[in-house]
Amino acid sequence: MTVRPETLRSSSLPSASAMRIYNTIEQMRSASRAARSEDKRIGFVPTMGALHEGHLSLVKAAKAQSDFVAVSIFVNPTQFGPNEDFARYPRSFERDCQLLEVEGVHAVFAPAVAEMYPGGEATTVMVHGISEKLCGRSRPGHFHGVATVVSKLFHIVEPDCAFFGQKDAAQVAVIRRMVRDLDMRAEIMVCPIVREADGLALSSRNAYLDAEQRKTALVLSRSLREIEQAFGSGERRVAKLIEIGQALFRQTPAARLEYLEIVDPDTLDPVPQVAKRSLVAVAAFVGGTRLIDNVLLA
Ligand code: PAF
Repeated sequence: MTVRPETLRSSSLPSASAMRIYNTIEQMRSASRAARSEDKRIGFVPTMGALHEGHLSLVKAAKAQSDFVAVSIFVNPTQFGPNEDFARYPRSFERDCQLLEVEGVHAVFAPAVAEMYPGGEATTVMVHGISEKLCGRSRPGHFHGVATVVSKLFHIVEPDCAFFGQKDAAQVAVIRRMVRDLDMRAEIMVCPIVREADGLALSSRNAYLDAEQRKTALVLSRSLREIEQAFGSGERRVAKLIEIGQALFRQTPAARLEYLEIVDPDTLDPVPQVAKRSLVAVAAFVGGTRLIDNVLLA
């Protein structure tokens, strides 16, 4: 589903002056502190822009649960590997701001790379173990980049609660662990995956797919759905459930499966026996585009 700003604009548009855009750490921190001094609960949604309805669902949740909502738009170079898509990652800043203004966001934090990393990156946050599981295995350093930037953003915005999408289930596990280990005060809120009508999980990287690849990409959500159905019918054997998903990939050679695993959602360790709350996570390449999806069994 495509979000058209003009459609959203026809709904209740907040006063144009309501949303402020900050490019410096000092400005953003002052705005947050001013809100806190008025006893406002600060909700924060970190993003890399190229916003879609998945992001907007996080913003809506933040609006519902806080009095001052800040959204960051920062394509963080340190979480991309040398051969990954940092340079061509979709950027649509003006459109993103229009969408956020319609949602009634109070502050957009959009720093330049030099503002966030003026002297490079001598200090990093590493969440050991968990950062090397699932996507972390094939994207070495990715979750160190994520943990470091999220920790920096938390220090700048000082949120009471921060909103993340379940789509990035491994990222959620890493952030939760970081918050717990480093006694950060932000409450981590996780919102459900938003899907297209045919099941494709929304992702900024879907923009890379052509029409044929878009169809191929459905193998991710279909494999998860089949596994979910088999679980619903009583199947509990890990190997059997994984085989059900892998079979679908074998029938779809245009997609290259990277992993299909059933893990504990907190530790990301493979589960010996599938149970409720087990996380089925999948990553696959369609053409040059790496896509991920997951389901929590219920
Ligand atoms: O999920 C994302 O878009 C990014 O990993 C995040 C959390 C904004 C950190 O750069």
